Amino acid sequence: MEHVLIGKDTTLNLRMGITFPDDQAPEKVLPTSAKEGQSLINQVIAATGPKAHPRLAQIMPSLVRHLHEFAREVNLTVPEWMAAVDLLNECGQMSNDRRNETQLLCDILGLESLVDEITSNMLASSNAGTPSAVLGPFYRHDAPLLPNGSSIIKNLTSATPWYSQAIADSAYITGRVLSTDGKPIAGAIVDTWLAAPNGLYEQQDDSQTDMNLRGRFETDRDGRFAFYALRPTSYPIPFDGPAGRFLTLLDRNPNRPGHIHFIVSAPQHCALTTQLFDDRDKYLTEDSVFAVKDELVVKFSPREGDPKARWYLEYDFVLRREN
Ligand code: BEZ
Ligand code: FE
Repeated sequence: MEHVLIGKDTTLNLRMGITFPDDQAPEKVLPTSAKEGQSLINQVIAATGPKAHPRLAQIMPSLVRHLHEFAREVNLTVPEWMAAVDLLNECGQMSNDRRNETQLLCDILGLESLVDEITSNMLASSNAGTPSAVLGPFYRHDAPLLPNGSSIIKNLTSATPWYSQAIADSAYITGRVLSTDGKPIAGAIVDTWLAAPNGLYEQQDDSQTDMNLRGRFETDRDGRFAFYALRPTSYPIPFDGPAGRFLTLLDRNPNRPGHIHFIVSAPQHCALTTQLFDDRDKYLTEDSVFAVKDELVVKFSPREGDPKARWYLEYDFVLRREN
């Protein structure tokens, strides 16, 4: 469904935008009666049977109530609801193992950030560890396990379009993995990935080598990891699908501030999925997926005497113990 009528001479088109005649806002309509609404909510909730899945039986009444109250509050019309159904269908049709458009839609609504926060609080026995941040859609499970001190930049040559940016942003990144009691964890795995200076992850960009800017490192006996990479670059989230169009309709910034992704794991500890954000980035206060946390904003320092890196970052990850 491309165009849907949402009132006299008024077209809602989630692909192109919302237009009103002479730029007028729609007239206010009388809200549906709260009493009628309540009775429908109760009927839907009461339809759940005794053999329902326990977690679903627990959460569905709340979902039904919020959905109905939302629709009533905004006077949602059939064409508007159909336009939303169409948008969700398109997200699903566009998703595959390289891209998850429905997840992206959740991301721009802040939902992945919220459930990430809820889950990490529930899994751990204390809040003392490094904060988590969303995984995002660009993680690959099988990044190469590399020796500490090696580089995750692959096949960088003077012919690479972003060569000079990569040299200017070359960085040595090191730190320790600690438990919340302050003890270093040997044998922890630090899995990292980031976008290239052109704002694209390797799987989005045929000109990059497979697994460029991805690697896994095992901490040594002092809990230390180290690798060469780049200071991160900001990038717009994929814009060629419904999530991108939605951002346009909402007149929103599509950019994510420059960040490096990490999954840090160790036995008897909760795995930590997080991101570190470069403090130089202009989008820090307007991340399109709402993942920035103050504790995750880092400052790179200039690095002297290392031909492989112009910048240096030291950051310790603190893992919470499993309950
Ligand atoms: C990312 O950081 O890779 C990302 C996270 C959420 C949505 C899109 C991209
Ligand atoms: Fe990212």
